[in-house]
Amino acid sequence: MEQILSSVEDNLLIVYSTISIIVISAIAVNQTARSLLLFCWNCFVVPFFHKKKNGIEQQSNLELFYKNQAHIYDKTREYLLKGREECLKLAVNHLESQKDLVWVDIGGGTGSNIEYMNSVLPISNFKKVYLVDLSPSLCDIAINRFKNNGWSNVEVLIADASSFKIPYEKVDLITFSYSLSMIPTYYNTIDNAVNLLSQSGIIASVDFGIQSNDTSIGRINTLGGLINRNSSWINRNFWRIWFEADKVFLDSARRNYLEYKFGTVKSINTYNKKLGKIPYYIWVGCHKSKNENLIHRINSHVTESPYLSPVKTSSASIISVDDQPYMSKGHEALIDNLSKNLPYPSIYYQKEIWRVYFDDLNPQYNQFKNQYIYAFTWEDPREDHKILKFNENDTVLAITSAGDNILHYACLPNPPKKIHAVDLNPCQGHLLELKLSAFRNLPKDQIWSLFGEGKIDNFKELLLTKLSKSISSNNLQYWFERGNKTFDPKGQGLYDTGSTRWALRLAKYIFTLCGLNKHIRQLCECTTMKEQVEIWNNKIKPHLFNPIVATLLIGNPIFLWKALGVPPNQAKMMGPSVMKYVVDTLDPVINRSLISSDNYFYYLTLMGKYSKQNCPDYLTAKGYNNITRVDPKTGESPLDHIRLHTDTLNDVFYRLKESSLTIAIIMDHMDWFDPNGKDAVNEILAVKKALCKNGRVMLRSAAQYPWYIKIFEQNGFRCEPAAIRESGESIDRINMYASTWVCTKIEDKRRMSSLRI
Ligand SMILES: C[S@@+](CC[C@H](N)C(=O)[O-])C[C@H]1O[C@@H](n2cnc3c(N)ncnc32)[C@H](O)[C@@H]1O
Ligand SMILES: *[C@@H]1O[C@H](CO)[C@@H](O)[C@H](O)[C@H]1NC(C)=O
Ligand SMILES: *[C@@H]1O[C@H](CO)[C@@H](O)[C@H](O)[C@H]1NC(C)=O
Ligand SMILES: *[C@@H]1O[C@H](CO)[C@@H](O)[C@H](O)[C@H]1NC(C)=O
Ligand SMILES: *[C@@H]1O[C@H](CO)[C@@H](O)[C@H](O)[C@H]1NC(C)=O
Ligand SMILES: *[C@@H]1O[C@H](CO)[C@@H](O)[C@H](O)[C@H]1NC(C)=O
Ligand SMILES: *[C@@H]1O[C@H](CO)[C@@H](O)[C@H](O)[C@H]1NC(C)=O
Ligand SMILES: *[C@@H]1O[C@H](CO)[C@@H](O)[C@H](O)[C@H]1NC(C)=O
Repeated sequence: MEQILSSVEDNLLIVYSTISIIVISAIAVNQTARSLLLFCWNCFVVPFFHKKKNGIEQQSNLELFYKNQAHIYDKTREYLLKGREECLKLAVNHLESQKDLVWVDIGGGTGSNIEYMNSVLPISNFKKVYLVDLSPSLCDIAINRFKNNGWSNVEVLIADASSFKIPYEKVDLITFSYSLSMIPTYYNTIDNAVNLLSQSGIIASVDFGIQSNDTSIGRINTLGGLINRNSSWINRNFWRIWFEADKVFLDSARRNYLEYKFGTVKSINTYNKKLGKIPYYIWVGCHKSKNENLIHRINSHVTESPYLSPVKTSSASIISVDDQPYMSKGHEALIDNLSKNLPYPSIYYQKEIWRVYFDDLNPQYNQFKNQYIYAFTWEDPREDHKILKFNENDTVLAITSAGDNILHYACLPNPPKKIHAVDLNPCQGHLLELKLSAFRNLPKDQIWSLFGEGKIDNFKELLLTKLSKSISSNNLQYWFERGNKTFDPKGQGLYDTGSTRWALRLAKYIFTLCGLNKHIRQLCECTTMKEQVEIWNNKIKPHLFNPIVATLLIGNPIFLWKALGVPPNQAKMMGPSVMKYVVDTLDPVINRSLISSDNYFYYLTLMGKYSKQNCPDYLTAKGYNNITRVDPKTGESPLDHIRLHTDTLNDVFYRLKESSLTIAIIMDHMDWFDPNGKDAVNEILAVKKALCKNGRVMLRSAAQYPWYIKIFEQNGFRCEPAAIRESGESIDRINMYASTWVCTKIEDKRRMSSLRI
């Protein structure tokens, strides 16, 4: 009830106070205010009095509405009709070719959309542009506008959206901006669009529209994500009734029909907060059966996993659905939906196949609250390579985290032939997916700004015009909502996000509290080891490890979990004194290598960003070249061989083809399990199934001899420590873990199956 009331207040108060302010200021006879007053009069007052006069003819209705306000239309719609430029940028970024295009803007009104377009993609790139609109007075303005701009390839058709005729059989782009909600016969308008859009064409709509949870039942995975899609009961009804007075219909059916007749490539659910909280959406779609690439994706079970296809397969390798032994969740969803004549799940219409199908309503994701934990990866990939010696015959599975290690493997001299990145938290996947798209679409210096500095000017522009074509719809919704803030140059940047920001903030807080800031800066600038050890031993350590700091923070389990992501089960494995554990971690790190040039982990924690001399390999010029280098034989780069899974490890192990992995890197994941539970043995059996003979599992632990090593050994693995941390020594540049282990699968298949019987 409270929520309803506050929502009523939200909307009513804002709208009515806006109107009163406009009316009052109009009295001050200001030019703009007079336009706004006229707008309000025509939108909110006239419709109520003219109700009886309206006939059944839509055109006369429209004229009644628009005639007196056509000249002020553009000025007054700037705040009301948000997202129009964003929608065009998104649509253009998804076009396959940007030359010789034919575009139809349906319900184009005064043609302002076409003028916006000129700044996104010059009108000279179009072979022909049609503006279709039923209102002669708005069309007049459009005709003048195009004449003034000297665009001879733009034509205005005063016609109904459901029955206009153009001399082209197929077009490349169709857009609706705030018009679908006004077109009474939207179903045949959309049906006509299906026939008019070319196979590789793009259709886009930006409009007001209300949705509740219930309107998505049964179509969930075809919609490109449900985040923000439902608005509250009061919000839905208030705006629907409000807009009806102006013959604008916010009912869900319009968007639903669009999403049924086309495949959803991208969809953003958001609110216009300038005038209350009006729900609107931006949607980009394509032909339901876009291209043959789709068929190949459906059949991609020919590789390790049903959905994990190579970038290019010949049609010869496609096998029929009937004799396939493995089924992915994505494949199941697709077959299910297809049999009901629904479009394919949205993930299949994406340009890149990095992101493996996932169901974004999986309740297992709720625990993450739509946030990532790790903004950077806290494990040293240089050691991984020293221990495992990756080569081109490896298929590696590793935990995604922030994706830093995944990208490190991809820029090795001989990168693995395939890398599966697995994380149950969808937002960890979102972070890596954004990085992959950056490598695909941005130059080195912008990648550095984003992920080295963590800041960039106008992220949103970059997202819409460069990155969006390579990411999934869920990913776009995620970064559309928060990217500008995350990467804001005036803010704290990327590394002040995620739960790991608490560790960084806390470090800063303690250093300030202990008056250590100056010395920390010196530590990060040292050029000799001698200097570094001296500053640490004499200036920093005595203040840092005093009993108060230790008891309050480092020894506090709540802090460990919240800030460092160390869960209680793992804290237990650290031994009796957490303080000693921390000293054992840091002391030898200081002694190991220069923080200023060879330890980007601690450098980032202390400085909040990387430096060019001290950063993950993938952010260096060489790393960039390696990760984007194209093999002339296959036409593929290491980027093409990365897959992002948003599932539990076990789920992925079971869905991968048996014996397809050579290496699984599960980090400290098993420390989280309860030693008395079944989780460890279940995971060990799952990974064993996916590993080939002599395949290896690499893991790290807070214990020197973790309890689950024995369970590996009981189940057909040979386990050897790759490194055990003794007091005073470091085993890698982070040195957070007490041990690193490699467990090799030694049992062959026959023995396994006989064991099972
Ligand atoms: C809110 S305006 C949006 C105009 C323009 N697209 C923009 O973004 O500024 C909606 C437009 O749809 C047009 N419209 C409504 N019903 C139509 C129909 N049946 N056929 C063609 N246009 C129609 C109206 O004339 C009006 O110009
Ligand atoms: C929307 O659906 C989700 C999942 O089905 C459910 O958890 C949630 O409570 C629903 N929200 C509303 C407002 O009905
Ligand atoms: C929408 O549904 C989500 C759960 O899916 C719920 O948390 C949220 O409160 C709902 N939003 C509104 C405005 O009802
Ligand atoms: C589409 O597939 C998903 C996943 O299998 C399923 O939940 C949904 O109900 C399907 N839609 C219809 C209409 O069957
Ligand atoms: C990878 O496999 C091929 C074919 O089996 C073999 O010739 C090559 O030596 C292997 N490479 C490495 C580094 O083991
Ligand atoms: C890139 O690959 C080359 C060899 O192809 C190798 O020498 C170099 O170390 C790699 N660079 C990085 C940053 O990994
Ligand atoms: C995003 O942020 C930049 C400044 O970093 C600002 O200029 C721009 O207007 C913002 N864009 C949006 C859509 O919020
Ligand atoms: C670093 O540690 C090693 C091994 O414990 C020790 O021999 C050496 O003296 C230490 N170096 C410094 C500069 O403390």
